[in-house]
Amino acid sequence: MSDARPAKSAGYLARTRPVVPPIYQSATFYLDDLAYKDIQEGGLREHWYSRFANPTVDAAAAEIAALEGAEAALMTSSGMAAIATTLLTLLANGTADQPAHDKAQASPVLGRPGRIVAARQVYGDTRDLLVRDLPALGVDVTMVDATDVGAWAEAIADAPTTVVYAETLSNPQLDLTDLPTLARLSHAAGAKLVVDNTFATPYTVNPLRHGADVVVHSATKFLSGHSDVIAGVVVADAATVTEVQKRVITFGGCLDPHAAFLVWRGIQTFDLRLERSCATAARLASALAANPEIVSVRYPTGDIAARVMRPDRRGAMVAFTVRGGDTRALAVMRRLTVASEATSLGGVESLVSTPFNSSHFSLTPEERVAARIDDGMIRLSCGIEDPSALISDLEQALAATV
Ligand SMILES: Cc1ncc(COP(=O)(O)O)c(C=O)c1O
Repeated sequence: MSDARPAKSAGYLARTRPVVPPIYQSATFYLDDLAYKDIQEGGLREHWYSRFANPTVDAAAAEIAALEGAEAALMTSSGMAAIATTLLTLLANGTADQPAHDKAQASPVLGRPGRIVAARQVYGDTRDLLVRDLPALGVDVTMVDATDVGAWAEAIADAPTTVVYAETLSNPQLDLTDLPTLARLSHAAGAKLVVDNTFATPYTVNPLRHGADVVVHSATKFLSGHSDVIAGVVVADAATVTEVQKRVITFGGCLDPHAAFLVWRGIQTFDLRLERSCATAARLASALAANPEIVSVRYPTGDIAARVMRPDRRGAMVAFTVRGGDTRALAVMRRLTVASEATSLGGVESLVSTPFNSSHFSLTPEERVAARIDDGMIRLSCGIEDPSALISDLEQALAATV
């Protein structure tokens, strides 16, 4: 009897050569000798249970590994799952005393006490992980100004460091991290550099090429590009991805196959979307800089951008500060008709938000100053609409709220 059903479906599958990866919406798969062998070796390669591996999920991961120029990638259920699982994997205490029977699980990348030096300018929930959850697990966390190379050097040298963590382009203030310098400082101290490349995207920067050891993304954003899925990804060398995969298996943060399909499909238009959105962001940044109602515009320029980002690719995010503080910022945002007032970013539609009441609401006024989130800051993620319409919409909203 067990032969009857696979034989039937195998007939259909043998005649079918899909152009896009099918959604393998199956929790489990028929076991065979290869699967049993894989189970006994840790279950990291074959497809027999979808918390371990699933063909549609693997298809999405392969696309992102290629975009980042990496050996391997691993999808997770969200960007936060990617970040938390990666950090817990790298920061976990050593395996040197592991009992002999557990050698198959022994890790080539673990083994030192966990200390992390991280940028102060990070996404709000990453910050909660750093200031609340990791210290509760005994991890020593030090946070520094992402733009201050001297502060990084001092903090990393201050005590043995396991992980250094930064966002390529920070949320929301768009501070650009000097990746080559940070990689050099990290490696000199024997630490791994983990970089969140969500805002910059692989269209503008491949952090691994600048010395980062691990790249994490919220694939919810520009990678999938349609604001219709929550997903994350970890990108690194195969050995490190394997270590993180073991924790995705035990912590349970795997991606659903249908969500993985949406990520895969979004990536097919990644370059086209980003080309359009980055060009729009550049135009918008110069239009805003010329507007007297704007105090400052955050958009990557200067030496670090020239060294780290690809020519003429500065990303699709713009942050700017309006005269009149957060109250005016809210009023401006509410008058917009092209960009949508919503949290998140990276969709084909422009999304706009004010960090003070959304992504960074939990910061005290002092913490906001330290993180360089100005009173009156608006964060805009450029979509693929007509750039002129987006710009004139912002100009009318600024004019109407003077
Ligand atoms: C820079 C950055 N990293 C990580 C995340 C978390 O991603 P997710 O919402 O997919 O968990 C976000 C979410 O906004 C983000 O902006």
